[in-house]
Amino acid sequence: MAIDQQELRRIMGHFATGVAVITTKDKDGTSFGLTANAFTSLSLDPPLVLVCIDKTVQCYPCFEESKLFAVNILNEEQEEISRRFATKGIEKFAGLKWRTSERGLALLEGAVAHIECKIVQAHEGGDHTIMVGEVLSAWADGDRPLLFFKGKYHRLP
Ligand SMILES: Cc1cc2nc3c(=O)[nH]c(=O)nc-3n(C[C@H](O)[C@H](O)[C@H](O)COP(=O)(O)O)c2cc1C
Repeated sequence: MAIDQQELRRIMGHFATGVAVITTKDKDGTSFGLTANAFTSLSLDPPLVLVCIDKTVQCYPCFEESKLFAVNILNEEQEEISRRFATKGIEKFAGLKWRTSERGLALLEGAVAHIECKIVQAHEGGDHTIMVGEVLSAWADGDRPLLFFKGKYHRLP
């Protein structure tokens, strides 16, 4: 018998993670984004990361259109931004401090790291798609990341 979805979510919540906002863009260059913690490094040579994207998210087609995404790893004071980018049907960028990279991707001010990627593979993963990104540029500064554990936000001591 398949495990109950809520129970699987509860159990997986024991795996502590950081929190990222993944941004991408549509064919007109308009920015979109979502909060994600199903993000991991994959390979150093070649430099690859992956992020798992729910097939129902609003910006899902943008990943296929642009073949690009940026990972903004949030700092401990960006919980509101995480909540905002995890809310459907709102204007997510309104009033936010961010800039557009040379590749047209939204980079959020205050993030502890920015990683820009070109999608080189997309794998079926049930109700998600595993987007494998080749790292085009990366920057990190800051040692106070926002954390997520057992369904709640946390900070380093
Ligand atoms: C802490 C946290 C982690 C999340 N991780 C993911 C993830 O890895 N992949 C994903 O597709 N959605 C993830 N979500 C859910 C999306 O952020 C949420 O469904 C969002 O509203 C989708 O945006 P949309 O308005 O573009 O549909 C996460 C939400 C939270 C709060």
